[in-house]
Amino acid sequence: MRMVDIIDTKRNGGVLSDEQLQFFVDGVVNGTIPDYQISALLMAIYFQDMTKEEQTSLTMKMMESGERLDLSRIPGIKVDKHSTGGVGDKVSLPLAAMVAATGIPVPMISGRGLGHTGGTLDKLEAIPGFRVELSEDEFINQVAKEKLAIVGATGEVAPADKKIYGLRDVTDTVDSIPLIASSIMSKKIASGTDALVIDVKTGTGAFMKTLDQSRLLAKALVEIGKQAGLKCMAVISDMNQPLGNKIGNALEIEESIDVLKGKGPKDLTELVLTLGSYMVVMGEKAQNTTEARKMLEQTIQDGSAFERFAAMIKAQGGDPAVVDNYQLMPQAKYKIPFKADRDGVLTKLSADEVGTASMLLGGGRQKADDALDYSVGIELHHKLGDYVKDGEPILTIYSNRQEIPDIEQLLRESIKISDDGKVPTLIHEIIE
Ligand code: URA
Repeated sequence: MRMVDIIDTKRNGGVLSDEQLQFFVDGVVNGTIPDYQISALLMAIYFQDMTKEEQTSLTMKMMESGERLDLSRIPGIKVDKHSTGGVGDKVSLPLAAMVAATGIPVPMISGRGLGHTGGTLDKLEAIPGFRVELSEDEFINQVAKEKLAIVGATGEVAPADKKIYGLRDVTDTVDSIPLIASSIMSKKIASGTDALVIDVKTGTGAFMKTLDQSRLLAKALVEIGKQAGLKCMAVISDMNQPLGNKIGNALEIEESIDVLKGKGPKDLTELVLTLGSYMVVMGEKAQNTTEARKMLEQTIQDGSAFERFAAMIKAQGGDPAVVDNYQLMPQAKYKIPFKADRDGVLTKLSADEVGTASMLLGGGRQKADDALDYSVGIELHHKLGDYVKDGEPILTIYSNRQEIPDIEQLLRESIKISDDGKVPTLIHEIIE
């Protein structure tokens, strides 16, 4: 078999066979296919798309290129959640604790952030002592005992994806539905979960900017998951503005704990309850989402979700006193208000630019090896559709620099105040 023929087939809109996809993935992993031929095929896939069968076949071959976690020692139906990534998206943190409090094991394998979307692991590392790198045994034992753990990949998961993702990044082929779907699902299937709820973000701050594109991605993800034998569904949720009110590592831990104390912002709490309801149904602890939602609300009221979160921090070496004293996490030196320059309704609060502002303060990475400042970020006092008055703070910037004209300029561009506007929809669609 020759790689040039595989490229030719896809370039001309043909369908790749299982054998061709196997040859491609093997060659990516063992280095026998040069980067320029891998990139050429990626570009051909970008323009010519893939059939459902090709997407599933590519995903399975990428998954088989690395280790697959065996979670069979953990009793019960294991349920995980994945998000395609957004600004202020700390959903995994309160969600894992609430679902675990209903008795469902939640083995969560998360990632780090690059660019403006922060990673769950980075946020957890704002908690002094917290270890995100557990051995496979530690991870499995902790989920069996505490019902939850949130960690980085424990072994070499889908090495084909690592190589392909690196090339997609520099050949402008990231936003291709078959490539995103195979990348995400190869890693999730390898993580050994039984069921998966996927939060597909849509809007200016998401990979997928339109609802049509997001729907196609959600359907591709769910289809691949089902073909691989997982229980799988997706929620399409809004990412035109940041989720919740706090953006930044320590700030997002604070807000997650606030949700568990019943004091979280409305949009974040609503999304956690929606995703969680499907997880509880898939975990077979409730017959339907109405019953599941009540169970999750109960875990907040009786403190059991809060208690699960503290137990996870303790089990992973973190300081559990953080849950009652947020000052134990790194604190920024300056809190700088950013004020409205007219009366009116907030009609633009760009997730993208607010995320970039937080990254430039030091809260995110521009390069994979950049160090993070856990203390910095942004706290929103208003969201889209709110009426604001001239001179009133729209948000507060948490900074370790006193002078931040670059950040203020960026935020000025990210915000628009108009004569009228409305509150956007949070949950756009459910794909089952
Ligand atoms: N997340 C992934 O893991 N892969 C993609 O391609 C996009 C988002």
